[in-house]
Amino acid sequence: MPVQFKTIIEPFRIHSVEPLRMTTSALRQEAIRQAGYNLFSLHAEDVLIDLLTDSGTGAMSRDQWAAIQHGDESYAGSPSWFRFEAAVKELFPFQHIIPTHQGRAAEKILFSVVGGPGKVIPNNTHFDTTRANVEFTGAEALDLVIPEGKDPQAIHPFKGNLDLDALEALLFERIDDVPAVFITVTNNSGGGQPVSLANIRGASGICHRYKVPLFLDACRFAENAWFIHEREAGQGDREIPDIVREMASLTDGMTMSAKKDPFGNIGGWLAVNDNSLAESCRNLLILTEGFPTYGGLAGRDLEAIAQGLREAVHPDYLRYRIRSTAYLGDALDQAGVPVVKPIGGHAVYIDARALLAHIPPLEYPGQSLAVALYEIGGIRSVEIGTVMFGRKPDGSEVPAEMDLVRLAVPRRTYTQSHVDYVIEVVLEVAREAATLPGYRMVSEPPALRHFTATFEPIT
Ligand code: F0G
Repeated sequence: MPVQFKTIIEPFRIHSVEPLRMTTSALRQEAIRQAGYNLFSLHAEDVLIDLLTDSGTGAMSRDQWAAIQHGDESYAGSPSWFRFEAAVKELFPFQHIIPTHQGRAAEKILFSVVGGPGKVIPNNTHFDTTRANVEFTGAEALDLVIPEGKDPQAIHPFKGNLDLDALEALLFERIDDVPAVFITVTNNSGGGQPVSLANIRGASGICHRYKVPLFLDACRFAENAWFIHEREAGQGDREIPDIVREMASLTDGMTMSAKKDPFGNIGGWLAVNDNSLAESCRNLLILTEGFPTYGGLAGRDLEAIAQGLREAVHPDYLRYRIRSTAYLGDALDQAGVPVVKPIGGHAVYIDARALLAHIPPLEYPGQSLAVALYEIGGIRSVEIGTVMFGRKPDGSEVPAEMDLVRLAVPRRTYTQSHVDYVIEVVLEVAREAATLPGYRMVSEPPALRHFTATFEPIT
């Protein structure tokens, strides 16, 4: 028997590097003050380790850069489009693939067609842009994740699962109001938690009995498929692409941000099987994104995504990817920092409501923690809590289900010593947690307030 080594190494070596700019805590305190205590308003050069998002921030491979050289910028019918379409259909064999410049453009188009006042669109947990695009049409965005998915400490192998009883009850009562059902894989706003194949199959059965289309919000499909491979009975011997194809085959369409698992710096698509829905969506696409064979993307982006899709489902990559996120989460957990468990695929979520128990939810414990991580260690994270979700369409403000701070791990970008530094900073901030202030919101826009709201500490 060959020796089994424990260390899971990065399955790549570095080919091109970007310098990081070292900053002092004095500089960072001034920078965040000038940014109105909103981490989205910082200059990225003032950030040392940027864990704001795993979206569009991954490192492209040599083969992606090489593919970019094949980019053909013909307005219509470019060979890059046909390579992109074939790569998408290889994993997601839907009839119609409609390219968009990113995920929310796919959402905007789909919900403009199927949404509207009086409608309700269930999901395990809507991501912020998904919720906003549903609500913008006047429809209701309903979260129906299983109860374990709302408890940061509950251990469940598929905490992203949709509550199938709740789905059935909704369809039974309001069938005429539900134009589509969504499942987000992995469940980003609920901790990056996976959804089982059995759950997707169950949802598919219910939706098809009620003749409602089921959609995947599939940004992190490969990470989800890896969790299925590792955790679901009978799936361990299957190839990842095969699991992905089954996930897709149980549904009627998908929205996609190619800035996540497909390793794009930009890109996305909408896919559907229904011909007339595809036609309505393509008509809107031409209005806002572009001609249906490029949809808001350059030929070179289509090439990078086509190649990235092949790399995303490689088992060596996925084993490293999921393990390196767990490495960060396990270290924080073992040191007593409250984190959402089990550790998700693309990010570690700190339970700020538990860590900063002295700050009430309407004084934004997540924002306070995120500001402290930046001031003390130059780490940029994002609040996923009452700042992001607390403002309701009727104008009221209520605490979100959870107050989390997400440390999102860009793909193939940071090394283990960067992560060891992050662990050290989080532990230092955790030691000082009781001294951190709550925040008051000074200004906020009418929607998606977390991107541009400004704050001040409550002293
Ligand atoms: N759906 C999910 C589950 C997402 O996580 C995102 C983006 C989108 C849709 C929208 O895609 O950004 O390409 O328009 N999530 C990023 C994040 C921004 O940081 O989690 P997009």
